Amino acid sequence: MSDAIHAPFWLRDNFAPTPDEVSTSSLEVLGTIPTDLKGRYLRTGPNPISGPSEHWFLGDGMIHGIELADGEANWFKSKLIQTPMLGRPEEENYFAKAMQSLENGLGNTHVIGHAGKILALEELHYPFEMTPELETVGAYDFGGKLATGMTAHPKICARTGELLFFAYGLMPPYLTYHRVSAEGKLVQSEVIEVGAATMVHDFNITENHVIFMDLPVMFDLSKADHGGIPLAWSDDYGARLGVMPREGSNADVVWHEIDPCYLFHPVNAYEDGDDIVIDTCRFDHFMKPDVPPVPTLLTRWTIDTVAGKVDEKRLMDVPVEFLRVPDSIVGQKHQYGYMVHMRDDVPAGRGIVKYDFEAEKMTEFRLDEGEFCGEPVFAPRENAASEDDGYLLFYTYDERTNTSDFVVLDALEPERGPIARVKLGVRVPFGFHGSWIADER
Ligand SMILES: [Fe+2]
Repeated sequence: MSDAIHAPFWLRDNFAPTPDEVSTSSLEVLGTIPTDLKGRYLRTGPNPISGPSEHWFLGDGMIHGIELADGEANWFKSKLIQTPMLGRPEEENYFAKAMQSLENGLGNTHVIGHAGKILALEELHYPFEMTPELETVGAYDFGGKLATGMTAHPKICARTGELLFFAYGLMPPYLTYHRVSAEGKLVQSEVIEVGAATMVHDFNITENHVIFMDLPVMFDLSKADHGGIPLAWSDDYGARLGVMPREGSNADVVWHEIDPCYLFHPVNAYEDGDDIVIDTCRFDHFMKPDVPPVPTLLTRWTIDTVAGKVDEKRLMDVPVEFLRVPDSIVGQKHQYGYMVHMRDDVPAGRGIVKYDFEAEKMTEFRLDEGEFCGEPVFAPRENAASEDDGYLLFYTYDERTNTSDFVVLDALEPERGPIARVKLGVRVPFGFHGSWIADER
């Protein structure tokens, strides 16, 4: 058998790194790119350029971006983020070395735009500032004010323009909250007390609150020099949601116990009277030693902040991940969520699901056999008339041609299939998250 067959999933097939950066301006378009899509769709992912990598999460960051204007695709680029760790995964104890400096990030998990800056994020280090043409400016620490790393899942409040985020640490403080003004100034940092170093991948905001998720996937630093990432499920730690006013501090956090579980991504959260609703997709357990993995399933938590209780309701039995709502309603009530119908063998998608939380039903754009997709990002239609009046943007991969497309669906009726496909002619490895960063209108 070849080495490729023995390789872990993140080094095989379309998870494997692509060896070359790409920059092309000659792109075939099938269908019609809407003329109100003016800007860039940027998505990052791991691309261990030297070949080896001890974990899917540890590959060098590569951003795959496409610029759209006037119904045309101006360019497509795949660009490595120029980090201090670039090309070093073959070194032993890579994770421990990466943790020696907040500037040793990878930028491989998410890309956002805020206050005129494009930031490539990963969750234990500073982000990297990028130019619109995907050149690396460097590690970004908010003018010297950020004293911790930064989650890859900050939330931009559409109402205030603030950037709200947290950082988790392997050493105390284990959790820190940060608030950045609409102008990009870091104006508040608060240590939040939790019991141990757990992997905190994402969090939630509502109109008036932030909600932290303290879940039982824990770091064991005694195993940090054994390779990979020293994480494991704990049967003892428990699970809780911490509700805090957005300008509050640790003393204001109210913790609510929930059934033990893990999750990477909520869909969105909002306030409904005294209740806080969080739609998410959860695993009954994750990284539990010697236990087969379980699917991630769409679930609604309703926190009754008066009674101090959390109701949990399973919404759907289709395994989904990479969930998004329009940027314009993050923290506000949503009706729809857009997500990936996951394959059951590897973390990639077989279709794009639109879930209606009011009707409690889904529609799906199912890809052809042999074609797979990643996270759908919502871009609003100009003068949008409803929450779902816009487009869903994502990359696909076709194993029959070993190439990828950039796809545009109509978010009103995604099941009708692409309204535009841009043939990229190259492969975009499966990755994580991205954003539609529109030009100013
Ligand atoms: Fe994520």
